[in-house]
Amino acid sequence: MSITSRLSCLLFAVSAISSPISHRAVDGLNTRAVAAGKEYFGSATDNGELSDIPYLEGLSNTADFGSITPGNAMKWDTIEPSRGTFNFANGDTIVDLAEKNGQLLRCHTLVWHSQLPSWVSNGGFDNATLIDIMVNHITQEVTHYKGKCYHWDVVNEALNEDGTYRSSVFYDTIGPAYLPIAFAAAAAADPEAKLYFNDYNLEYGGAKFNAALEIVKLVQSYGAKIDGLGFQGHLIVGSTPSRSSQESNLNKVAALGVEAAFTELDIRTTTPATEAAVAQQAKDYAATVGACAAVEKCVGVTIWDYTDKYSWIPSVFQGQGAALPWDENLQKKELVYNAILEALS
Ligand SMILES: *[C@@H]1O[C@H](CO)[C@@H](O)[C@H](O)[C@H]1NC(C)=O
Repeated sequence: MSITSRLSCLLFAVSAISSPISHRAVDGLNTRAVAAGKEYFGSATDNGELSDIPYLEGLSNTADFGSITPGNAMKWDTIEPSRGTFNFANGDTIVDLAEKNGQLLRCHTLVWHSQLPSWVSNGGFDNATLIDIMVNHITQEVTHYKGKCYHWDVVNEALNEDGTYRSSVFYDTIGPAYLPIAFAAAAAADPEAKLYFNDYNLEYGGAKFNAALEIVKLVQSYGAKIDGLGFQGHLIVGSTPSRSSQESNLNKVAALGVEAAFTELDIRTTTPATEAAVAQQAKDYAATVGACAAVEKCVGVTIWDYTDKYSWIPSVFQGQGAALPWDENLQKKELVYNAILEALS
């Protein structure tokens, strides 16, 4: 052994013993999730935030985040703002970051009624033409990112609260067949990617959740591939369903032969958050993350960004926020963070 390699062994041994950084590096949300048999714990992010260096360091810490999701970079209005014109730059930035960090990528989303350019929603296309447009969009985007996307949210938010289909240009023109057609196109473009249907308020286990199970069966009945159901998990402090009822939902998904994931978890409260609200929030995070930990077919949890600094909640739900495990100053909320860690143990 040369002197330099002996020296580096010694330095390694010393730093492994004494460095608080290396200790942190082995104990985090993602490492705990993986140790519990999950595939990742992840966070959403967005291009505008990546110039915030302390934020970027937290996002890139793979002890906490083994997966990232682009919040907006892969949505239709960004990717194909006018017919046949594709702009992958923002999405590529997130892909490059995930590759550099060694993180998985949940790619989001191909077919959604929102952030959809008006050339699609108001184009007045007939059934066959709209199918062509949708399939072309999916094929181009999934092919561009082929091999990079561990998951794809193929269709997002297809349901109303009562379990009926949401009116959208896709549903209104094509009918429910737009779902299996979209999944088949995605599978053809990247056979390796896990394909998800993703929606919110499924956690309550009611009509909307049952309709989501029907969507899984519908896609299967067409012979198209669907791998998972995404529970967005935009929950409310004090109204989050219990761990056992969330486990029961996840088991119903597993019974269809597909996997599940929490894809956009955040748990909002009235701001400023009281001490009691934060204590309840810790329990609500534990109920949701603990349900995923307990059900083998639940593969991972993604929070919808990790810090209140970049949460979407205050801009959409007035007077609400404080929904994430890190505060607006990028400081960990120890109570919430530790509750998640424990739920993963
Ligand atoms: C549109 O065409 C597809 C594919 O042929 C078909 O499955 C679907 O039912 C059609 N939708 C309507 C509303 O006719």
